[in-house]
Amino acid sequence: RGKRAFIAGVADDNGYGWAIAKALAAAGAEILVGTWVPALNIFETSLRRGKFDESRKLPDGSLMEIVKVYPLDAVYDSPEDVPEDVKGNKRYAGSSNWTVKEVAESVKNDFGSIDILVHSLANGPEVTKPLLETSRRGYLAAISASSYSFVSLLQHFLPIMNPGGATISLTYIASERAIPGYGGGMSSAKSALESDTRVLAFEAGRKGKIRVNTISAGPLGSRAAKAIGFIEKMIEYSYVNAPLQKELLADEVGNTAAFLVSPLASAITGSTVYVDNGLNTMGLAV
Ligand code: NAI
Repeated sequence: RGKRAFIAGVADDNGYGWAIAKALAAAGAEILVGTWVPALNIFETSLRRGKFDESRKLPDGSLMEIVKVYPLDAVYDSPEDVPEDVKGNKRYAGSSNWTVKEVAESVKNDFGSIDILVHSLANGPEVTKPLLETSRRGYLAAISASSYSFVSLLQHFLPIMNPGGATISLTYIASERAIPGYGGGMSSAKSALESDTRVLAFEAGRKGKIRVNTISAGPLGSRAAKAIGFIEKMIEYSYVNAPLQKELLADEVGNTAAFLVSPLASAITGSTVYVDNGLNTMGLAV
């Protein structure tokens, strides 16, 4: 049978999550997605109304089928963690079972198991603030949504992952080099995510024969990136300075993810793989 993938962090057709879903679908995988609760309504409506049909097109001409969309808020592990104001929020009250533990249970009930887990989500409420001006609350929120969310997803999905399976997350070079503008503790969150990739690769490798890798992606004008405010500048900077002078396509990250979760990458785990036109290798701006 084909492989089954759960991709957390798809809410439109612009981001890396969507591109990864497409690359996996093109390779024959069954696609389940986890969509942030506040974005669920518009995503499902747009899907239903055919707004994404053009971008659902796979290389063979067929349309990517998303077998099921699960509401998800990856900053909550189980219902006990959800504060009253969120519970009562109109956008949340309309959905149910969206904490990480519940989503894993729902996927288990619906499909039994998965082979591939993708984490393509991040959030830092103070991302536009320099680290020096970031509050404790903002910093911890960035870590919670962007780093611990992966620990939690793997913790809860590992028991239903088939041995030989693999996970992927998305990181950014601000984890290891100072990138002014990527603030609010998001740089710290990406450092944590990369370090956790190594530790979780060991633990999930030993416990469930699961591989854990992360892709350090170059800049893409996604919805999340536009919220940071300097994405156009980063894309231009990359174009001017990277070894490969071309636009970075989300599909190039999607294809790398498909490779990394496939048997072709069966000995790769704990790695940070750069998909950035080579920008990370440069030591001097041109
Ligand atoms: P995106 O906007 O397509 O994806 C981010 C997703 O996270 C959105 O769908 C959003 O609804 C979801 N999300 C936010 N908080 C959530 C929560 N608490 N629970 C569940 N979902 C939540 O944007 P993009 O840029 O494709 O981001 C995907 C990943 O790629 C992120 O980890 C990001 O940091 C990473 N990345 C992006 C780069 C870029 O230039 N766009 C560069 C390098 C890494």
